[in-house]
Amino acid sequence: MNSWKTVCRAAVMVLFISCLLSLALRVAAHEPITTKVRFNKEVVRILARSCLSCHRPGGIAPFSLATYDEARPWAKAIKEEMLERRMPVWHVVKGYGEFRNAPRLTQREIELLVNWVEGGAPRGEEKDYPSTPVYTDDWALGKPDAVLALSQEQKVAADTDEVRTFSLPTNFKEERWLRALDVRPTNGAVVLSATLYMERTSSSSAAATAAVTNAAPSDSGLAFATWMPGQQVIALPDGVARLIPAYSRLVVKIHYRGNGEAATDRSAVGLYFAKTPPRKVVRDVAITDAAAVIPAGPTAHPLKASFTITEDSEAIAIRPFENSLMISFQASAFLPDGSERVLIWSRGNKYDWQPTYYFKSGVRLPKGTHIEVTAYFDNSDDNQNNPHDPAKALRWSEITHEPLCDLMIATSRRASTESVSLK
Ligand code: HEC
Repeated sequence: MNSWKTVCRAAVMVLFISCLLSLALRVAAHEPITTKVRFNKEVVRILARSCLSCHRPGGIAPFSLATYDEARPWAKAIKEEMLERRMPVWHVVKGYGEFRNAPRLTQREIELLVNWVEGGAPRGEEKDYPSTPVYTDDWALGKPDAVLALSQEQKVAADTDEVRTFSLPTNFKEERWLRALDVRPTNGAVVLSATLYMERTSSSSAAATAAVTNAAPSDSGLAFATWMPGQQVIALPDGVARLIPAYSRLVVKIHYRGNGEAATDRSAVGLYFAKTPPRKVVRDVAITDAAAVIPAGPTAHPLKASFTITEDSEAIAIRPFENSLMISFQASAFLPDGSERVLIWSRGNKYDWQPTYYFKSGVRLPKGTHIEVTAYFDNSDDNQNNPHDPAKALRWSEITHEPLCDLMIATSRRASTESVSLK
């Protein structure tokens, strides 16, 4: 009797253990799916809107998230980036400057992504994947009115890291009014940024755009636009445009960085024109301290610069020049009525990403408004982003890796008769 009982008990134990084992094995083989959120349905559509401008084959991010097989290995990392609000890349501190091109995800989108990861990151049905392309290399605003391409294909070696300057003739016989601009590399993986300048030739008209600057760092004029892969392309508000004098040249500085293998690129700049002369013209205000020096050592060295607005205007866009030593950057406007307005406060800047920020609505800058800029730099050996080891004192330089305290504000002002010549 006793021995029968023992056999019985042993059998039950064996059954129980094997049950446990098979359950454990099943769990190891397949994470249980506990979510209704599917990659092919909700997730890919969120990624398409907010992530694939960079995370695509040949994009600036080191990996693509366009398909389930590409995104699945990154599921845990995506959850972490979402919870820490680190992606999409955006340096402006919430509440300090409202921008049209802020790529923030809604709370619901963040929840959907996190829910998808926590629920086992399921693929979903093939038929639910969007039938239209989830990203495109086409011009974001449609066919440009004019396209200026580099005259030659550029060779970009595996270890290239340099800024190359190109001067492209517009050959416009008459002045034009620019509403928007886009850059299309043929190889987006090696173009880190493009900076654009306007250069008058002796035959270009002397009208209008005299740039306002208190300490022009070079005679090459002001950069009037920067372009970064993944940056949303934004047109100027209705009735506002930028003058391109007749016969001027477009100077393009492209930062090429090899991505481990020999590559080529032949970028082109697309220009979109206003159909009618604008009510307001764009003037660039550069606020910089050309003599600034950042000594080696301090972990929070401040640099300051300021400027007083000489004509009633409105700020349309703002571009702090960010670099790898910068900890934070703040610009405030002190209006003649005594009020203060923070134009921008950005933190955690990375040299690789310094977009132009477009204000949601124009910020009024009456004549006499004083703009103050304060930026903090960590030029210590402890800063892992410091390109110099040991740290060394740095001053203003054209070399893009060098730090400086520099801000460009695109403002709009009423077009005066001499600046809008109607033809
Ligand atoms: C403007 C370009 C850009 C956009 C938009 C962008 N990313 Fe990224 N992402 C990058 C770059 C560049 C890296 C490489 C890491 C770095 O250098 O900071 C990266 C890295 C990552 C990583 C890896 C982080 C790690 O653990 O190393 C994840 C995950 C990620 N991105 C997810 C996303 C998601 C999700 C979105 C959209 C919600 C998104 N990214 C939008 C540029 C972008």
